Amino acid sequence: MPVISFASSKGGAGKTTSAIILGTELAQGTSVTMIDADPAGRLARWSELAPLSDNLTVLVSGGERHIQAEIEEAASKSTVVIIDLEGTASRLTSFAIAESDLVIIPTAEEQQDANEALETLAEVRRESRARRQKIPAVILKARTAAAVKSKLEKHIAAELEKAGRVLKTELNRRTAFSSLHNAGGGLRELDPNDVNGIDKAIVNAEAYAAEVFEILMEADNA
Ligand SMILES: Nc1ncnc2c1ncn2[C@@H]1O[C@H](COP(=O)(O)OP(=O)(O)OP(=O)(O)O)[C@@H](O)[C@H]1O
Ligand SMILES: [Mg+2]
Repeated sequence: MPVISFASSKGGAGKTTSAIILGTELAQGTSVTMIDADPAGRLARWSELAPLSDNLTVLVSGGERHIQAEIEEAASKSTVVIIDLEGTASRLTSFAIAESDLVIIPTAEEQQDANEALETLAEVRRESRARRQKIPAVILKARTAAAVKSKLEKHIAAELEKAGRVLKTELNRRTAFSSLHNAGGGLRELDPNDVNGIDKAIVNAEAYAAEVFEILMEADNA
């Protein structure tokens, strides 16, 4: 069953938020276990804010000695396993990456973020090589403006595309997405009286989850 990790050496790149969006979207149709493998515990904190769908379980990893067994156990119980990693390279991140069928690397369209995303991509490739096993990785443009792209943003996008596969769907910078950290639960549980733009955020999240699902299917048929 597919194991998806969110990785990037850049802190604040959007790993936890993008993982929550994917997990809550996929849990509408299938069983999902999310593993908080970041000692900062932001995924776990989110999971305690509101009741989660019966399809969604959130676990806190016991660390590098346990992560492989935790992933195996989660994969035996759920259709999809999603791992939220910490923003620094460690044995824990490297073990989780090695167990993944897909690594998603979120990045903003800013030069420093893009550089970190490329470094993370290189790290996944090194891991792949060391383990003699293909570990597919994709770059996710996150926290981007929904408006027309600037010249610099286009330049960065081209640089990312040259280095690896980039998801066609971006997760734009949206209040509905950041609000998940305050409200808990998924986008559909947000209160329209408190948060603007929920409908657009749902359309964005659905397109993103559908594209990730498609990539997993491709890998399955390869
Ligand atoms: N698409 C988005 N739209 C709006 N805000 C976002 C989006 N993605 C992330 N954020 C906000 O940016 C901040 C950092 O995001 P997040 O915690 O997801 O990053 P991270 O990569 O998990 O960080 P860390 O490395 O510290 O774990 C958070 O405050 C979050 O609410
Ligand atoms: Mg995080």
